[in-house]
Amino acid sequence: MYLLYLLAALPLLVRGKATIDAEIAALEASSSPLLQYPTQLTQNLVPKQIHSHNDYWRDVPLLSALSFGVGSVEADVWLINGTLFVGHEVAALTPNRTLDSLYIQPLLKILAAQNPKDAFTVNQTTPNGVFDTSSGTPLQLLIDIKTDGVEALPFILQAFQPLRDGGFLTVFSNGTLTQSAITVVGTGNSPLEQVKALSPRDYFFDAPLTQLTDPSLNTTWDPTLSPLASTDYEVAIGWPGIGNLTPAQQANLTKFVNDAHERNIKARFWDTPGWPIQIRHTVWELLLNNGADWLNADDLEAAANF
Ligand SMILES: *[C@@H]1O[C@H](CO)[C@@H](O)[C@H](O)[C@H]1NC(C)=O
Ligand SMILES: *[C@@H]1O[C@H](CO)[C@@H](O)[C@H](O)[C@H]1NC(C)=O
Ligand SMILES: *[C@@H]1O[C@H](CO)[C@@H](O)[C@H](O)[C@H]1NC(C)=O
Ligand SMILES: *[C@@H]1O[C@H](CO)[C@@H](O)[C@H](O)[C@H]1NC(C)=O
Ligand SMILES: *[C@@H]1O[C@H](CO)[C@@H](O)[C@H](O)[C@H]1NC(C)=O
Ligand SMILES: *[C@@H]1O[C@H](CO)[C@@H](O)[C@H](O)[C@H]1NC(C)=O
Repeated sequence: MYLLYLLAALPLLVRGKATIDAEIAALEASSSPLLQYPTQLTQNLVPKQIHSHNDYWRDVPLLSALSFGVGSVEADVWLINGTLFVGHEVAALTPNRTLDSLYIQPLLKILAAQNPKDAFTVNQTTPNGVFDTSSGTPLQLLIDIKTDGVEALPFILQAFQPLRDGGFLTVFSNGTLTQSAITVVGTGNSPLEQVKALSPRDYFFDAPLTQLTDPSLNTTWDPTLSPLASTDYEVAIGWPGIGNLTPAQQANLTKFVNDAHERNIKARFWDTPGWPIQIRHTVWELLLNNGADWLNADDLEAAANF
């Protein structure tokens, strides 16, 4: 229908851009149904391999990140009195800022908008993700458990039930990994043995990027357990972004990225320098050029425009 409108408008083209612009303005002002479609909440947002570090610090958690097309967000989660609160430290917690209110409910709302139930979608078997421009791209949601992981995990799994019920969680079941709208990855105190034991598994484990070949962890790392592996940039590479990268630093970077990629796991380096800006960009560039899959960012606008 929109196409028909454009065709009808074609003669205007010859009358110049000003006429067209006026026509567009009039149409936009009319809130014509021709300009509306169900999944346009995230219209134009192209998902990027950016991880929104400490996402809950933003004025509006989750949505601010999505507004830049960020493909991965992180929530620090505390289990206190049976409730999962979200915040960087205990002093930052409030009764209303919970995993459910800041992440689960907003995601349900976005996914409901991206998955209209109507005559056009009756035959669709896999749900759309949060990104209208790329409905098959999952949003990665990191859950950084700040309190005891063994104790918190059952509460977290329970909190995700509404998203699970909607079929919105990536799941490893019966030997098959099925991607859906949201891939939940546990980090911080997330308990490895308990995550390994989940069957089916829709809560994954952020693997230690520098230890993927370490036999003492007794773990075969692959994307059915760990779609992501991360490490502290400073500890693993430590190049300050000025002068030359030493051969040992380059060797570490190459090895860690290769260890992950050989296992089909994405590599992320956190705690990269944030300032000065020039240094931040030099280090981001180094990481991207060497195959790192996620840019860890506090300044999402800068990362999105990088
Ligand atoms: C946890 O529960 C105890 C006992 O009911 C109460 O005194 C305390 O204020 C609660 N803490 C929080 C953070 O809600
Ligand atoms: C915070 O939660 C309390 C109790 O659930 C509720 O009464 C209050 O309206 C909430 N405040 C805001 C700002 O959402
Ligand atoms: C859904 O599938 C049925 C049965 O194959 C078909 O008749 C119908 O046209 C399909 N609807 C859409 C919107 O594709
Ligand atoms: C997984 O396998 C079990 C037992 O073979 C079967 O009952 C179940 O339906 C399967 N689940 C899925 C999601 O395929
Ligand atoms: C690995 O297995 C060995 C032998 O079973 C055990 O002693 C060790 O604690 C395990 N390591 C971890 C990290 O679970
Ligand atoms: C390389 O990584 C290892 C293991 O994390 C670390 O001990 C070492 O300091 C790193 N080397 C450099 C040059 O940073």
